[in-house]
Amino acid sequence: MLSYLESAILAAKTAGNFQREKFRSSIIIREKSPANLVTEVDIQSENIIIKVLTENHPSVGFLAEEQHTSEVKASAERWIIDPLDGTTNFAHGYPLFGISIAFERDNIIELGVVYVPILDEMFVAQRGKGAHLNGKSIKVSHTNHLKDSFLASGFPYDAWTNKDNNTKEWENIIKSVVSSRCDGSAAIDLCYVAAGFLDGYWELDLEAWDMAAGSLIVEESGGQVSLPDGNIFTPYQRGVLASNGLLHNAILEKLAR
Ligand code: 2AM
Ligand code: CA
Repeated sequence: MLSYLESAILAAKTAGNFQREKFRSSIIIREKSPANLVTEVDIQSENIIIKVLTENHPSVGFLAEEQHTSEVKASAERWIIDPLDGTTNFAHGYPLFGISIAFERDNIIELGVVYVPILDEMFVAQRGKGAHLNGKSIKVSHTNHLKDSFLASGFPYDAWTNKDNNTKEWENIIKSVVSSRCDGSAAIDLCYVAAGFLDGYWELDLEAWDMAAGSLIVEESGGQVSLPDGNIFTPYQRGVLASNGLLHNAILEKLAR
């Protein structure tokens, strides 16, 4: 039988190979809500992941974006899965998207895996054991002045009606940093903070499956993770600020209203 980590990596790679095959081919798209797309590839990827994980760990529950959510007791073990983070990118043929799988025990994220199929990047972290990209240890950046920093963010699907749509925060940040990006995949942005490719990332309206794996990968690479108002992070509160730690307070000041 595979370990939890081996199973998560196998599931992410198998779904990633499938996504690579389907990328820029004709795909069926449905809308979950206005502007929130779901493709057949999201659903089939989730089925692939669940199959691998269930075969290896039949008693572990799920919290998964598209459909497989099992009720588990508070003390139970479960997988938290985004089968295709960056669905809008995928549906437009824009190559930044990936698979995010976390393993949670007693409400603590114990491991996280994020796979970016087009770049063949496998990010992995286990609590207390550091973070790795394709087997090599990763660390956050050393940038310590906001004016030298390179940050990313994103906007909610209902940005035109949601008054908490991140435009004010974005305006404050772009006036203070070298450059900023909107990449369309929360899981990848978190991993890019972990690897030092970005100095920080925040977003206000996310779900647990977007952040669970990536938040542990940031912590295990020496970074800092909080809610966007500075409070203690949990993946169940819809927002995140991740940084190299050195810039955390400076970014929090710019995000404060
Ligand atoms: P998705 O691609 O899995 O849907 C883009 O800014 C990032 O935020 C993506 O990771 C996207 O996830 C996520 N996202 C955007 N709006 C969201 C919302 N309202 N709820 C959950 N996730 C959202
Ligand atoms: Ca998704």
